[in-house]
Amino acid sequence: MNIHGSVAEWMKASSGGDVSARGLVPTMGALHEGHGSLIRQCVSENAQSIVTIYVNPTQFENPDDLGNYPDSLQDDIRYLESLGVTDLILPQYSELYPFDFTIFVDESLDSKVLCGRNRVGHFKGVLSVVMKLINLTQARQVYFGKKDYQQYRLVSKMVEAYFMPTRIIGMDTVRDEYGLALSSRNRRLSSDQLELARKMNRLLADMSLNTNQIASQLSDWGFQVDYCEERWGRRFVAAFLGEVRLIDNVEMTR
Ligand code: PAF
Repeated sequence: MNIHGSVAEWMKASSGGDVSARGLVPTMGALHEGHGSLIRQCVSENAQSIVTIYVNPTQFENPDDLGNYPDSLQDDIRYLESLGVTDLILPQYSELYPFDFTIFVDESLDSKVLCGRNRVGHFKGVLSVVMKLINLTQARQVYFGKKDYQQYRLVSKMVEAYFMPTRIIGMDTVRDEYGLALSSRNRRLSSDQLELARKMNRLLADMSLNTNQIASQLSDWGFQVDYCEERWGRRFVAAFLGEVRLIDNVEMTR
């Protein structure tokens, strides 16, 4: 695997290369099997499979959340090598944001609901960095997990709105044996919290319950519910266990 420690290194190494079979999985590191499923798909569909690891500060509205984001670069590198990734890019802030965050991409409808309601500016940071990473790599296939369904939807809209020559591929959520959606944040749960978190998906997927009933059951169990809502043919939830914010969504089946 070629490791490019900066945007400049990547630009030098990739200049003149064939972009037609380039796939990208943008990540913030702390990789787990959920990323693994995107990366395997990317490796299987593209001659050049690129992963970026960049903890993007502009999408964190809460500095503690940014500070607590897990860092496991050496393990991540071993994992990516085992999956057969051809290129890893590790951009620097000054390279991605030469004008700081004064030039950005924003969306004014779908980004203001669900995770965008309380995480003000979150999707502005996500869309801006994703556009930069797609343009930088010139990837023709880019892979996103549907656990972050709102993100996947917004990135798909952005690519269409800006005529970007890129296909956005949404992959199903990977879950543990109890149905808990895999997430880097799960590492921060205590064993009691993990047990509770594992009950969330079954409740969300129970179509005999409405969203108010789900929210109130989660509160009774000790979650602090941010939202539980249905839209776009799916049911979404975001809830805190202590400091850890968990999200999940399922397709509506009734
Ligand atoms: O889903 C993530 O890990 C991030 O939001 C992304 C897409 C890498 C942008 O920073």
